[in-house]
Amino acid sequence: MTITQRDRDLGTAYAMKPAQTRTELTSVVRGTPMGELLRRYWHPVGLVGDATGTPKKVRALGEDLVLFRDKHGRTGLLHARCCHRGTTLYYGKVEEDGIRCCYHGWKFDAEGHCLEQPCEPGGGRFRDKVRQPWYPVEERYGLIFAYMGSAEKRPVLPRYECLENMDDGEFVEADDSSIGGGGPAVIPCNWLQHFENVVDPYHVPVLHGSFSGPQFTDMMASMPEVRFDKTPRGIAVRSIRKQDDGKVFYRVTEAALPTLRVVPNPRVAQFARVESIGWTLPIDDTSFRIYVAGRVKTSGDIGRMRSKFNGKFWWDMTEEEHQQFPGDYEAQVGQGEVTVHSEEHFGQSDRGILMIRRMLSEQLEAMDADRDPIGVSFDASAPPVEFEAGNYIRDA
Ligand code: FES
Ligand SMILES: [Fe+2]
Repeated sequence: MTITQRDRDLGTAYAMKPAQTRTELTSVVRGTPMGELLRRYWHPVGLVGDATGTPKKVRALGEDLVLFRDKHGRTGLLHARCCHRGTTLYYGKVEEDGIRCCYHGWKFDAEGHCLEQPCEPGGGRFRDKVRQPWYPVEERYGLIFAYMGSAEKRPVLPRYECLENMDDGEFVEADDSSIGGGGPAVIPCNWLQHFENVVDPYHVPVLHGSFSGPQFTDMMASMPEVRFDKTPRGIAVRSIRKQDDGKVFYRVTEAALPTLRVVPNPRVAQFARVESIGWTLPIDDTSFRIYVAGRVKTSGDIGRMRSKFNGKFWWDMTEEEHQQFPGDYEAQVGQGEVTVHSEEHFGQSDRGILMIRRMLSEQLEAMDADRDPIGVSFDASAPPVEFEAGNYIRDA
């Protein structure tokens, strides 16, 4: 292969450099830099109602797990492969005090202790020598959170002001059904493509204001003036749009490391602090899903906020309609399973993306230096985390 200067001058695809991805930022596998950073935080892995007497498959950070609730109400999150000879506990039976593997009947409690080995002499005299790999879980805001990192570094599961203090008639509800902007529950591309979207306000008037048809309100369709600022846990995007009446529509969205979208309702139903938090759960390197917890007045409100395109839900659209009215799903999955960083060209409007990548890199450096990454807290009595995110009207 010989690329000449003429090829470069002409800019044909033949002159392209070999494709490169910054896998230290994208890969979520245990033992990789980002995989280890992500394992310093709690992640939602299901709705509270997902843990039942029927085992449920969970895939998180590239690991296959099984979620269940024993008859005592204890939630178990165990590695799917049985530590005996490796069949999946998905076909196991949930009992009083644990889950029993379908193959040879070994029984494990919610913390992986082996309680019975029915094929072994004496019911398994050495059963305390084996342990099914497991993860600690905690339930909050209608979600089941798992901590998949080192016990030494286990932080407290944070509380958030916007999910603690209710306005009149509000309660917290969780949802796991889509990326909100329209799409299926599981999105087939790397999680970072989605997380970066949170600090990309300029795509809103283009993708959501024009291409997909005015998807949100008219207020969101104009090009904003934007400021990006670091916060104690991520990046705040402050968008200012001057209104015809001389007032200013001030919208703040935040990305909180490692995966939180703190995005006020883009339909701007009210001018108020942010009403929900979305967690980007990396399923593996090439897929993710979103868990949302939000303040609602009526059950199902989060699902009802879902975007429509051309009057239709994403899954009801034809291929031609997806081309005519693309949304977040099309744009992000369109970047490929894992985007190719060496082919990007940044402009002024991409400052947020550069900031969030730099901030993620800084956390990797912090871990190398044995410092705690941003936003982890070991203080169980710390007040709830407060965000500035919201839609506000101000005098100019
Ligand atoms: S493989 Fe699970 S008990 Fe044998
Ligand atoms: Fe979007």
